[in-house]
Amino acid sequence: MLKIRNNLVNFAFLIFICANALVSPITIEELKPLNYVVDILKVPIKKGEEQPHAIRMKSKFGQDYSCLLPKDDDEEDVKKDNIEGDFSIDIKELLKPIQSGFCMIKIQDWWTYEFCPGYYIKQYHIEDGHILGQVITLGLYESEFDWLNETNKDKFRHITQPFHSQWYVNGTKCDLTGQPRNAEVRIFCKPDAGDRIHRVDEEETCSYIITIHMSRVCSFPQLKPVPEKKTKSIPCHPILNDEQYNNYLKKVKEKELVL
Ligand SMILES: *[C@@H]1O[C@H](CO)[C@@H](O)[C@H](O)[C@H]1NC(C)=O
Ligand SMILES: *[C@@H]1O[C@H](CO)[C@@H](O)[C@H](O)[C@H]1NC(C)=O
Repeated sequence: MLKIRNNLVNFAFLIFICANALVSPITIEELKPLNYVVDILKVPIKKGEEQPHAIRMKSKFGQDYSCLLPKDDDEEDVKKDNIEGDFSIDIKELLKPIQSGFCMIKIQDWWTYEFCPGYYIKQYHIEDGHILGQVITLGLYESEFDWLNETNKDKFRHITQPFHSQWYVNGTKCDLTGQPRNAEVRIFCKPDAGDRIHRVDEEETCSYIITIHMSRVCSFPQLKPVPEKKTKSIPCHPILNDEQYNNYLKKVKEKELVL
């Protein structure tokens, strides 16, 4: 069967056209996070013989279609709930091997950043292979996100790419704020990344967010990226009146005779 694939824009257009006729109008906002394709099928339906749950749509050429909207499946939500309930893996165990003197280095613009997980984050400038000027501590390891704490359980429910946080405090005193520097390290699962500093952002004055990409934390179920929603098909049959439908049947028969 030949299918003509239309895109979301066309579907939104169809919805717009038939919005007046719908009992409960679908808003564009609702459609945004979902991927729909309209499949215009070749097989027509006789007027009055539409499926009970089908809705009627009209193309800009005036052709009526009988379309089935996909069911809302909660399957993915259920799956995510299950993942969140599985606390058999301890992230601290996964991170242990790199918390024994292993450090990551990244040069970003003027600064070189040195992150030793579980110990400290430092920043300095290197010239001709030597540290030039002051070594600035962005923070010393203090604590990390507790996945076992019930109050934390919902934090990442609606985030597509969750991360594990560690907090580093008591860094070098900041001239602008008079306070010691501090940082949050956010560890993301990236299956092919190895262990590396992805980027450093000074979120507020002397308060930093260090983004880390790591493959080793990917076996921690809560850090797995939520899979993107699959595209759902909206099958649409052209609706023909009696005369058109009989002509269609005749054509089909003629074709069969030729073959
Ligand atoms: C940070 O400094 C405070 C006050 O000096 C101290 O009580 C605390 O233990 C320090 N924390 C870390 C992680 O060094
Ligand atoms: C759980 O988290 C809350 C809020 O972050 C905190 O107040 C509480 O002490 C934590 N409970 C345990 C058992 O660590």
